[in-house]
Amino acid sequence: MRNMRMSLAPRRAVAALAAVLLAGGMAACGNSDTGTGGGGDDGKLVMGFSQVGAESGWRTANTNSIKEAAAEAGIELKFDDAQQKQENQIKAIRNYIQQKVDVIAFSPVVESGWDTVLKEAKDAGIPVILTDRAVDSADKSLYKTFLGSDFVKEGRLSGEWLVENSKDATGDVNIVELQGTTGSAPANDRKKGFAEAIAADPKLKVIASQSGDFTRAGGKQVMEQFLKAHPKIDVLFAHNDDMGLGALEAITAAGKEPGKDITIITIDAVKDGMQALADGKFNFIAECSPLLGPQLMDLAKKVHAGEEVPPRIETEETTFTQEQAKEALPNRKY
Ligand code: AHR
Repeated sequence: MRNMRMSLAPRRAVAALAAVLLAGGMAACGNSDTGTGGGGDDGKLVMGFSQVGAESGWRTANTNSIKEAAAEAGIELKFDDAQQKQENQIKAIRNYIQQKVDVIAFSPVVESGWDTVLKEAKDAGIPVILTDRAVDSADKSLYKTFLGSDFVKEGRLSGEWLVENSKDATGDVNIVELQGTTGSAPANDRKKGFAEAIAADPKLKVIASQSGDFTRAGGKQVMEQFLKAHPKIDVLFAHNDDMGLGALEAITAAGKEPGKDITIITIDAVKDGMQALADGKFNFIAECSPLLGPQLMDLAKKVHAGEEVPPRIETEETTFTQEQAKEALPNRKY
């Protein structure tokens, strides 16, 4: 009995000492040069990520890319789906600040209204990375970098294809536009780029333009309204594949043949969109890549380590015609 008590005491002391050393070590790992605090239970870099929602096939692929890349990079990911609401994103970011995560990343649902919460993150010493969508804050020091597509370019490439393919048209070419989420960077920029490009040909006229919120249901519903209101629609420009796919249903139900009676141009190039293009129902897609996860994790490690990163990193993208879609489809990852 006496021997047992004597042998237990030193073991407890060793365990207590180990716990103190481990906790110290973990805190040291979590605290970087940036003085961000945090650090996962096992010393991993902790990222708080606020996602826009789950509105489209693109978004699902983007979420998967981020989750997979975090696991591969050994980064502990705290993930929040904001269901397309800015107030939910602001709440999530404030939670991450309270939890003292090492890095905050987010894809802002709309462009405006972020300065206050971004300032709170900056004051707490937590670096912020914007991914996919940008904010319109004048103070660029509120975030470290913006990783994502050039949405104006995607709109412009779509418009340029239409200009090229309308050369032989006689008379007005009536275009309807399905915009993305009102106030979002991709909706604002794609509209701008497309309008700039089609200005080259006065025959090309946007006769109606409305938001379908980047969803299939939204695309279908707004296209139904367009078809009722406008007897002559020659072209649909949809700001993403999902709205275009929703519109296909409305067009078919109205007794028209998508891709023939109405030329359809979309953006994204997710698998379902590429299938519609290969099947001749869409006519052109400007790609927007959702595979941002690996670059995002790399950037998170760098900013956490206090390394300089470029303020803007643009995603590499291409465009697809029907023939190119047929070739690309078998190897399409998303
Ligand atoms: O921000 C990227 C856009 O958001 C994608 O084009 C669209 O599909 C998504 O919902």
